[in-house]
Amino acid sequence: MNIDLKETWLIGSVEIPGRLVLAPMAGVSVQAFRRQGRRYGAGLVCSEMVSVAGIQHRNERTLGYLRVGSDEHPLAIQIFGSDPVAMADAARMVEAAGADIVDMNFGCPVKKVTKTGAGASLLDDPDHACRLVAAVAGATALPVSVKMRRGVENGSRTCLAVGPQLVEAGAASLTLHPRSAKQMYTGTADHSLTAELVSLVDVPVIASGDITSRARAQSVLATTGAAAVMVGRAAQGNPWALAEMMGDDREPSREEVVAELLLFMRETVRELGVERASGFLKKFYGWYLGRGRFPRPFKQELVMLPTLAEVEQTLLAAAPGARFIFERLLAEAPDPQDEVLLDSLPISIYGGG
Ligand SMILES: Cc1cc2nc3c(=O)[nH]c(=O)nc-3n(C[C@H](O)[C@H](O)[C@H](O)COP(=O)(O)O)c2cc1C
Repeated sequence: MNIDLKETWLIGSVEIPGRLVLAPMAGVSVQAFRRQGRRYGAGLVCSEMVSVAGIQHRNERTLGYLRVGSDEHPLAIQIFGSDPVAMADAARMVEAAGADIVDMNFGCPVKKVTKTGAGASLLDDPDHACRLVAAVAGATALPVSVKMRRGVENGSRTCLAVGPQLVEAGAASLTLHPRSAKQMYTGTADHSLTAELVSLVDVPVIASGDITSRARAQSVLATTGAAAVMVGRAAQGNPWALAEMMGDDREPSREEVVAELLLFMRETVRELGVERASGFLKKFYGWYLGRGRFPRPFKQELVMLPTLAEVEQTLLAAAPGARFIFERLLAEAPDPQDEVLLDSLPISIYGGG
């Protein structure tokens, strides 16, 4: 069966122009990542998880996650927390920031999050999970979606019991990453659970986990009946994975890879400021330049360079033709002035240009 990945579908009344969703990933899903994902074929992009406690306390760094570019729509901003009042407030901020969907994180397996009663631990407390969904759905006119794991323990089928209750409480869409929280990222995602969940709810389900190729995307869509597939790790430093899933399986040239990395660096500096960006970007060098595209020592060399200006120069020396592609990409990028800015955001977030 050949499924059309370009088909439009709906979350609530929000039109999603395509059946690939770019995953929320903490420490990865910055604006540059989301914009790039859109350009390469994602119909929906998501922010990384944003702490409602951070929003509540108007933490500068947290509020920085709420900046929305004009070219990002439709965009889901994901929040995590365990207090219904704070969640509702955060949902209102997300709406004011210009997002299209409020996504709730019921899947994070990290101790720091679960010990506060947030993330995947909510799957063990369905009544509270439903209270949170109801509070958020009641606070915003935007559709509310929930992203969850199969359950906390290995082999758990909790998602099948909790999923329909979350829909009843107001969730307009569910994303399932069918690994347990205990599993973290080991083993494989069991999408037979995704198929079961699809049969139990009348809202769109997004299948997350191990979607790495067009063949895999097609087979998970066909066997589960999911509305869309979500792509995470396969797209890290590799937007060409999304292009391949959409039907363009051309390998990028070294110049294209370098040009995309340079654009990613520029945008990330604008978003995070040069100091934070320098550390943040280091993991991306390997992701972009790996996969046999550049020799391994080259990545090591970049990581050791003291400034981003030197990284840029070294990249351009390795692929001089990248300059022209980079200039074209810069010219095509939307004007930062078009970004929606929340009035309450401290101006210093936008330092770095
Ligand atoms: C580095 C990293 C950070 C992640 N952060 C989040 C997050 O903030 N919110 C969330 O719902 N899932 C998060 N996830 C899970 C992904 O969204 C996705 O469900 C998971 O990686 C499985 O998909 P994949 O096999 O396509 O990577 C994260 C995953 C990774 C690898």
